[in-house]
Amino acid sequence: MTVRIELLLVLIPLHVLLTSAQSPDAVYLQALKDNWQNTPPNWVGSDPCEDKWDGITCTDSRVTSITLSSINLIGELSGDIAQLTELQTLDLSYNKGLTGSLTPDIGSLRKLSTLIMVGCGFNGPLPETLGSLAQLGLLSLNSNGFSGPIPASIGNLTKLYWLDLADNKLSGPIPVSDGTSPGLDLLVNTKHFHFGKNNLSGEIPAQLFSSEMTLKHVLFEDNQFSGTIPSTLGLVQTLEVLRLDRNSLSGNVPSNIKNLTLINQLFLANNKLNGTMPDLTGMTILNYLDMSNNSFEESKFPEWLSSLQSLTTLIMEDTKLQGEVPVDFFNIPQIQTVVLRNNQLNGTLDFGAAYSDHLQLFDMTKNMITAFTQRSRYTTDLILIDNPICTESGPTASYCHPPTESNSSYSTPPNNCIPSMTCISGQVLSPNCKCSYPYSGTLSFRAPSFSDLGNSTIYTSLQSSMMVSFESNQLPVDSVSLSQPTKNSNDYLVVTLNVFPSGDERFNRSGILRIGFVLSNQTYKPPHPFGPYFFLGNNYDFFSDASKGKHKSVSVGLIVGVSMGACVLVILLVIAGLYAFRQKGKAERAIKKNSPFASWDPDKGIGGCPQLKGARSFTFEELKTCTNNFAATSNIGSGGYGMVFRGSLPDGQLVAIKRAQQGSNQGSLEFKTEIELLSRVHHKNVVSLVGFCFDAGEQMLVYEYIVNGTLKDSLSGRSGIKLDWMRRLKIILGAAKGLQYLHDLADPPIIHRDVKTTNILLDERLNAKVADFGLSKPLGDTVQTHVTTQVKGTMGYMDPEYYMTQQLTEKSDVYSFGIVMLELITARKPIENGKYIVRVVEEAMDKEKDYYNLREVLDPIIGLSTELKGLERFVNVALRCVEETGNRRPKMSEVVKEIENVMELAGINPNAESASTSESYEGKSKGKDHPYLNDSLFAVSGDHLFSNLESK
Ligand SMILES: *[C@@H]1O[C@H](CO)[C@@H](O)[C@H](O)[C@H]1NC(C)=O
Ligand SMILES: *[C@@H]1O[C@H](CO)[C@@H](O)[C@H](O)[C@H]1NC(C)=O
Repeated sequence: MTVRIELLLVLIPLHVLLTSAQSPDAVYLQALKDNWQNTPPNWVGSDPCEDKWDGITCTDSRVTSITLSSINLIGELSGDIAQLTELQTLDLSYNKGLTGSLTPDIGSLRKLSTLIMVGCGFNGPLPETLGSLAQLGLLSLNSNGFSGPIPASIGNLTKLYWLDLADNKLSGPIPVSDGTSPGLDLLVNTKHFHFGKNNLSGEIPAQLFSSEMTLKHVLFEDNQFSGTIPSTLGLVQTLEVLRLDRNSLSGNVPSNIKNLTLINQLFLANNKLNGTMPDLTGMTILNYLDMSNNSFEESKFPEWLSSLQSLTTLIMEDTKLQGEVPVDFFNIPQIQTVVLRNNQLNGTLDFGAAYSDHLQLFDMTKNMITAFTQRSRYTTDLILIDNPICTESGPTASYCHPPTESNSSYSTPPNNCIPSMTCISGQVLSPNCKCSYPYSGTLSFRAPSFSDLGNSTIYTSLQSSMMVSFESNQLPVDSVSLSQPTKNSNDYLVVTLNVFPSGDERFNRSGILRIGFVLSNQTYKPPHPFGPYFFLGNNYDFFSDASKGKHKSVSVGLIVGVSMGACVLVILLVIAGLYAFRQKGKAERAIKKNSPFASWDPDKGIGGCPQLKGARSFTFEELKTCTNNFAATSNIGSGGYGMVFRGSLPDGQLVAIKRAQQGSNQGSLEFKTEIELLSRVHHKNVVSLVGFCFDAGEQMLVYEYIVNGTLKDSLSGRSGIKLDWMRRLKIILGAAKGLQYLHDLADPPIIHRDVKTTNILLDERLNAKVADFGLSKPLGDTVQTHVTTQVKGTMGYMDPEYYMTQQLTEKSDVYSFGIVMLELITARKPIENGKYIVRVVEEAMDKEKDYYNLREVLDPIIGLSTELKGLERFVNVALRCVEETGNRRPKMSEVVKEIENVMELAGINPNAESASTSESYEGKSKGKDHPYLNDSLFAVSGDHLFSNLESK
């Protein structure tokens, strides 16, 4: 490198001599370029202004703007930047490869009004010279690795509107002025102090705030501030969002905080605040209030809370609230989320008559609630775990269990078109159903005013406002999609953004640079409920000239070659050789990435090729062909992992293809482990793996296709198959044998973890087949009898013991199987209208009576007119399966025996092969050859012809 810098020094006069008419900034840009890799390929020619270099804007042959976001620049920002003295805008965002410290020379850019370096890899201290940038209006240095104190000199930037230093490693106190040196209290025109996620410490200076200030957003969350909240804060009447959470603040909350009547979002959680809880009456437009985990004095549920009529979200965990929740509180019209965990609230929860339709979550875990009034239109996730209502009556009611994993799996839907295509690797289907290479990244909203992440209207408004912004900036954007909204540990709402190109299937550089700037510069403003945001863009890897783009310094090379003779050429050749070598390495890595099987080569030492017993490897093309290009008509289901397609192999075999969604793929090692496991499972009551595809960046599992769908569909009548008592017994016996096989005979033993009626499939002979090992875990070595895991499974079927101890044993499957048995005879969902199936059966049950008095709750379709021999015995087994502790539940082998006994009681030979197909049930049920022709249990009535079967 030193050789090249020296060359450059020799070159400078040469350039000036040769082309005296070029921009005086050319040499300095050239010098910046020489410190960077991956500069745009059109950065050739000697005049950036004349030659219109991407990302460079000039006025009168002077460089006035440099915007270079998301193009994978690698290198440092050299002091040469200081020579571009007409520069007004500098945006280097989203280039993680830009490292090193921010050069103090930057202070020479006296005309700079916008300095943005979001999401780069810069580090070291912030130079005091930032305070010399007198024109600066927007300073965004968030999401880097900057350390050290906030320079006091920033206080000199009287035009500063936006100051974002969040998500760095800044430390020390917030500087305030003292007559001789400046401080941030002088920033009376600044609207945004975004300092969250740093290591700032000390007291928040009282001097920082005054009635002169015009701040809208004060975001100090997740730092180490201590001491009290200064009462001067109450003077900043313009405040709209205040986040002081996740610090070590103590003392009383100043009472004048309630003068801040423009506040929408207030976060004081996770501090050591004490004294009485502040009265916030008058904050009438407050949407989001979080005061959790402080040391406030014990108090009644404050009455003023019910007066906050704009609240969407109230979080008050562990705040020593006592007494009853007043019924008024439920009248707040927009309330979505209420979390009051860990308080001493007691009595009856009275939802009143007018409770809000928007209420999504009411979490009262660990309180003293003894009852609640149930509303008929009740759809809220009410959680009363660890309240007397649950601890005394037993943990069976749905509100005594954690809710199903919150399913805010929003994703922008297709825009009046049919997404029938499958895109080639790297491309993504846009909402307008076109495949292209999107620009992607994450939008993080630091203080949204809502908490119902599942409301699609909200995202639609975000999406359309973004399109309006892109269109008004004349950007080449076809559409945008939003997906995977989640709350992160700092309560930011994080949403994945894809921006799709219009016209072409990929963006060019100038398109990416302009889109990146609209987002980094806050040109785009989201609608109200979203609040302050920042965007982190990914590198865009899909430029059509991507490979050419990496060649650099060609023109320099030529000039040097001509002017300085052959010996220089030799040096350049060496550099070129090194470069080519590196490129080769890159190419090899790229190939490896596209074909992860390569890494299964035994030589490479991660365990060799998968040990597959009878499972085939399919190419992507093969599966594409057999599903008619993954046509929508072949799609037979979907889930969190992706979609399931029906396909027909060349030999005519029907298969179900489970295709992992782009992005939800597991690592190659996990995938290998999974297919090895699945391929070892062979039993007639377990769905078997035909093969897999691990090609073109795809992960797919190919299973045998089971024609008659799920047991659940049959129980609900959706499949058109009528299930009488005999068939139900046959099906449940098959399912039990499948599970017994997994527990006792599979090697290694497998715990299913998600036994439910939708995971039991029925083949053409109504043989049950246990399916979906998505959650299965082998037990590993034989000594181990349980595995400790993150709790997974489906609400209603989940073993409460597993839930509480997180120790998974085969008895957890037995519990779920017991629920399936009860579902089989009642055709009720495990949790229906807030009632748990186990409770329903137990409450109706009277062992003294005929059929244990269960006629009322049995599925009428079983055929109550006929005798249900063995029903009582069946119920006994089911209830043993759902015993509270695992060791009181039978093993699956015992369940199998018991069901066989029931079948014998019912006069059915459990070992008879089920010879008939469902077709023959349909067409020939009265024919001679039917094996159960004479079985009265079979022919309940004449109307059980399976007319819908054909259409399946
Ligand atoms: C609820 O708690 C309050 C305050 O601790 C107490 O005065 C009241 O008697 C309790 N009410 C019930 C129904 O237990
Ligand atoms: C979703 O959000 C919109 C806009 O804020 C609101 O009007 C609508 O009522 C919400 N829907 C639900 C179900 O809460």
